[in-house]
Amino acid sequence: MKITIQRFKSDGYAADATAVFVSQDKTEFGARTATIRSLWGAAANVLDSNDFTGARDSATPVYTGSKKMPRLIMVGTGGESDFSLERLRRAASVAAQRAAGMKCTSLAIVLPSFGFAANEAAQAVVEGAMLSVYSFDKYFTENKPGKKLERLLILVEDEKSLNDAKRGAAVGEAIVNGVTLARDLANAPSNEIYPESLAEQAKGLSSLGVKVTVLNKAQITRLGMGGLLAVNQGSEKPPFFAVMEWNGGRKGEAPVVLVGKGITFDSGGISIKPSAGMGEMKMDMGGAAAVIGTMRGIAELKLNRNVVGLVPTTENMPSGSAYKPGDVITFMNGKTAEIDNTDAEGRLILADALCYASRYKPQAVIDLATLTGACVIALGNVASGLMGNNPELNGKIVEAGNRSYDRVVELPLWEEYEELIKSDIADVKNSGGRAAGTITAALFLQHFVDGYPWAHLDIAGSGMVPKGSWYVTKGGTGAGVRLLIDLLRNW
Ligand code: BES
Ligand code: MN
Ligand code: ZN
Repeated sequence: MKITIQRFKSDGYAADATAVFVSQDKTEFGARTATIRSLWGAAANVLDSNDFTGARDSATPVYTGSKKMPRLIMVGTGGESDFSLERLRRAASVAAQRAAGMKCTSLAIVLPSFGFAANEAAQAVVEGAMLSVYSFDKYFTENKPGKKLERLLILVEDEKSLNDAKRGAAVGEAIVNGVTLARDLANAPSNEIYPESLAEQAKGLSSLGVKVTVLNKAQITRLGMGGLLAVNQGSEKPPFFAVMEWNGGRKGEAPVVLVGKGITFDSGGISIKPSAGMGEMKMDMGGAAAVIGTMRGIAELKLNRNVVGLVPTTENMPSGSAYKPGDVITFMNGKTAEIDNTDAEGRLILADALCYASRYKPQAVIDLATLTGACVIALGNVASGLMGNNPELNGKIVEAGNRSYDRVVELPLWEEYEELIKSDIADVKNSGGRAAGTITAALFLQHFVDGYPWAHLDIAGSGMVPKGSWYVTKGGTGAGVRLLIDLLRNW
């Protein structure tokens, strides 16, 4: 989608639809109600009618009679006192979906100025509008969706906000490109995105200046990544380990390392999952997708920090060669684990990646994973679970989550829970059973954290949703990308 920002002049643009935000008090944020009334008589009639209440999420189309700007969409924002950037994202998503529903290919949005800086408002409008019209439709050959929204025009009041809005829209666009990439990767079926093609996608970031190295099975073996190799044993396809380095910071500055779970299909292995809904497990690389999407976003933003992305990737399959319950495996750092359940595979490949992260002497490591069904039970699809060893880091992540609205909820890593993953024959056991499943998974990971500040995000619920809402679309959501980009920009 092409984005343009320009000064609001009534006849200075052409668009299939123009959206204006109107509050419950029927004042347009930014006090342009008068302009709109004088420009579009039909809009004045709507404002004066009792039919229009300005209720949140309502969208009323008005036909202007003008060829250049035939439709006005009056989007209700609800009350003014509790307005927020998130409400603006949602209002922009309502506008974009309504315009797309009317087969518009271009949409102008009059940027409201209700106390937020123009750059923040423009960023929110771009995120809300563009992310809401995402769909994964490449495999339709019949009933192909028609033309889509191709152009977004943001109309601003004055010269000062023009430049601010341009900056904010560019940030929004980079974020949207990162989220969209993450969604595309997660939604792709496992016969399209498998370990080698996922690593290939990471390599694609080199065109944006990211240094990408992909380790193959021989190199993984030489490093002693026994977790990644064990999970891979049952698969016909080889594992890979992608390393993405963005050196936007000072030379020698310790990087922030991001780690993403890249299970391109999780059948459960020998501890096989029930068949109902198993297809969703093509999205078990949502953590990897979020890391690749974030690296894409920060590269486009030319972030002035050093960031490394690590993606261990394999399928988890049952076969005669698969790893089995009862096996004991040895990781890159020499620690051992007893396999209780081959479906607790994500933590095994992440363990090796956390060991690998040590070589960067990182200032922090953050891993993202669709790790536990228990997290879906605890938080639903609304937020990610956050656990970590550093309260300051956790605090920063919570704040970034609230700002970006890619939200997280903290769970404790109390030592009492360690009891559940004790093994009689190895250093640790890979499953602690059903109780506190999200916490015991994180505690398992903590065994492989070597002193650095570390946070773990369980995106099992937030990363894949059965039903869309506003700008979060059905299927892979790209959860984590907006959170991490916000976190890294405000580090
Ligand atoms: N990929 C799954 C977790 C998952 C479940 C993500 C549902 C998204 C939706 C993970 O590998 C898994 O199977 N976890 C097990 C762990 C258990 C065996 C300790 C689980 O959650 O049941
Ligand atoms: Mn599993
Ligand atoms: Zn899994």
